[in-house]
Amino acid sequence: MPVNFAERRARVLERIGPHAILLVPSSPTHVRNNDVEHEYRPDSDLYYLTGFREPNAALTLAQGDAPMTLFVRPRDLAREIWDGARVGVDGARAQFGAHASFDVQELDARLVDLMLDRRQLYYALGHDRAMDERVLSALFAARRKARKGKVAPTEIIEPSVVLHELRWRKDEAEIAAMQRAADISAKAFERALATTRPGAYEYEVEAELRGTFRRHGSERCAYEPIVASGPNACTLHYVTNDRRMEDGDLLLIDAGAESGSYASDVTRTFPVNGRFTPAQRRVYDAVLRAQQRAIAAVEPGATLPKVHAAAVRSLTESMVELGLLEGPIDALIEREEHKRYYMHGTSHWLGMDVHDVGREWIDGEPRTFEPGCVLTVEPGLYVRPDDETAPAELRGIGVRIEDDVLVTAEGHRVLTAAIPKEPEVIERRMAR
Ligand code: GLY
Ligand code: MN
Ligand code: MN
Repeated sequence: MPVNFAERRARVLERIGPHAILLVPSSPTHVRNNDVEHEYRPDSDLYYLTGFREPNAALTLAQGDAPMTLFVRPRDLAREIWDGARVGVDGARAQFGAHASFDVQELDARLVDLMLDRRQLYYALGHDRAMDERVLSALFAARRKARKGKVAPTEIIEPSVVLHELRWRKDEAEIAAMQRAADISAKAFERALATTRPGAYEYEVEAELRGTFRRHGSERCAYEPIVASGPNACTLHYVTNDRRMEDGDLLLIDAGAESGSYASDVTRTFPVNGRFTPAQRRVYDAVLRAQQRAIAAVEPGATLPKVHAAAVRSLTESMVELGLLEGPIDALIEREEHKRYYMHGTSHWLGMDVHDVGREWIDGEPRTFEPGCVLTVEPGLYVRPDDETAPAELRGIGVRIEDDVLVTAEGHRVLTAAIPKEPEVIERRMAR
């Protein structure tokens, strides 16, 4: 499904109005160590509006005869021999639909004139201080220059109010990309189930995940994979992935492929030796039930707090059954006692960014779901190994189950449904 970048730009232009200019620079590059840089991941906003993936670039949009200007790195044979082909200044017009294009070195000077006769500047302050400095310098230069009936922007507006609201609702091409990312993740989890066994190391499973993503054309992981066996599952952002997995452990994997710049975000928890112990199974069933109830709440008009509340109620009931908490359910929820064993949120938006953009609250009210928005549903239950108040057989058990859920007109569709989570199915798969 071809992406219609021009249509996206047209929508932005319409929303910012006739007196505004929008500036979207690429995200900065970062040194990793000495003369090595971190892998460059194209800027989500810039990519959304142009499809352009190179670093050191900037886009401006403003209503008029030539709405789109792209600033890019110029062609440079010497650099291209080392770093690869560049689209170049002419390519920005020919391939990316820019009405005007310039060497990015000219950005500072040209921004001044681009801002003249505009009243609002849409620019995201605070993400890149060096760029902020350049943009503010250009703005003040434009104000000095503004005379004889010319104006310069008097307002700086956060572009997310336009851009991220568009990104929040996914179009058909975006949903197809997200389904593709989810399908690649499904293949990787299949490999992970097949590789996991007592005595193997967490990084061997991580290697299977990363290798499977790449083999199926995913450009990278959507975030650092968590491969957490045994007690490591209770460390929410565990990414060291270097423990030897033991007989009797659970393994929690939180990993997702990025494909076509869209993320998937999946968690599954399963027994390293292929069979849940009775205690593991009770915790697992509690999380699965909570997740099913939370997913059932996803439909147009529902909200993130509503989905979270469904998970929290179900988990709190289970915590009482498991002997982790004591007391009436409503009072426990009121006092947020569940946070002892379930300390994170249930959902976040998902899209080009794994924790995707889009407001969660509008005018003090939780935002209601609409067809095309995508969220994760990821309840968990974590009993720390040193928690002496918990029943002994539950200590060190951490379980999370996470799926990616698209809101549809009829309700919802689970994009990651192909990845097994019923305990019987997991045990059958691992017995093979
Ligand atoms: N993997 C990041 C998250 O689940 O939010
Ligand atoms: Mn996750
Ligand atoms: Mn998540």
